[in-house]
Amino acid sequence: MKTKHSTIDFSCKDFPLPDPFLNKTILQQSNQITEELLDFTIEVANANHVFWIKEICEVTLTSALARGTGISGRSAESLELKMKNGEAIIAFASDGTWAGFSFISSWENGKYVSNSGLIVAPQFRHTGLAKRIKRKIFELSRQKYPDANIFSLTTGLAVMKMNHELGFEPVTYSELTKDEVFWESCNSCINCPILMSKDRKNCLCTAMLYNPKNA
Ligand SMILES: CC(C)(COP(=O)(O)OP(=O)(O)OC[C@H]1O[C@@H](n2cnc3c(N)ncnc32)[C@H](O)[C@@H]1OP(=O)(O)O)[C@@H](O)C(=O)NCCC(=O)NCCS
Repeated sequence: MKTKHSTIDFSCKDFPLPDPFLNKTILQQSNQITEELLDFTIEVANANHVFWIKEICEVTLTSALARGTGISGRSAESLELKMKNGEAIIAFASDGTWAGFSFISSWENGKYVSNSGLIVAPQFRHTGLAKRIKRKIFELSRQKYPDANIFSLTTGLAVMKMNHELGFEPVTYSELTKDEVFWESCNSCINCPILMSKDRKNCLCTAMLYNPKNA
């Protein structure tokens, strides 16, 4: 059931929850998140999921403002295209509430694939959902582009850990795609002036790459 329009308070910030709350019942404002709700459906997105783009964009923007660093915004149109092309993963809680998202893009005729836009709805964070989405998006990348170098740019420790577990290694930006369109997506990041001042050679994000030849 994926028709419920969720009413999330987007002002929530990304505070780590204390240990006793992990994977257990989480109370957030008046909404009770039960373990049953955490029985997520994680699937390749398609045209039927376009409805959720507004919420995905809003939560991404709010999270970027809360973190104050290193998350590029994406247009609703580009996310729509990702969904229609089967290049995104979307997750829902058991009651149909949107819970998470990520997408892939290919560059230089499939020589590179970026894994981007990872976002988990605030009330479902610290439940292991990002890890599951990350694995799915990685599998989708491998399936669609088996020979591609897969990369991810992040300032976040959580994403670095997840990339590392999947076999990504830190690299310099010189190892990533040279495609102008990819780097243009950094324009909406608060750190873009730093990237530009360094002639795109480095910035605050750590670049991580999975080389299929080393697998
Ligand atoms: C980053 C984000 C996707 C993590 O989602 P999540 O569902 O809470 O992550 P998970 O519960 O799957 O945790 C995965 C791992 O990251 C760690 N982690 C999660 N949040 C963390 C944080 N804020 N700081 C450090 N580590 C963190 C977890 O402990 C776990 O590690 P472990 O396997 O060693 O225990 C989520 O906080 C989010 O959407 N943030 C805003 C958007 C964002 O920053 N996206 C990344 C852009 S590069």
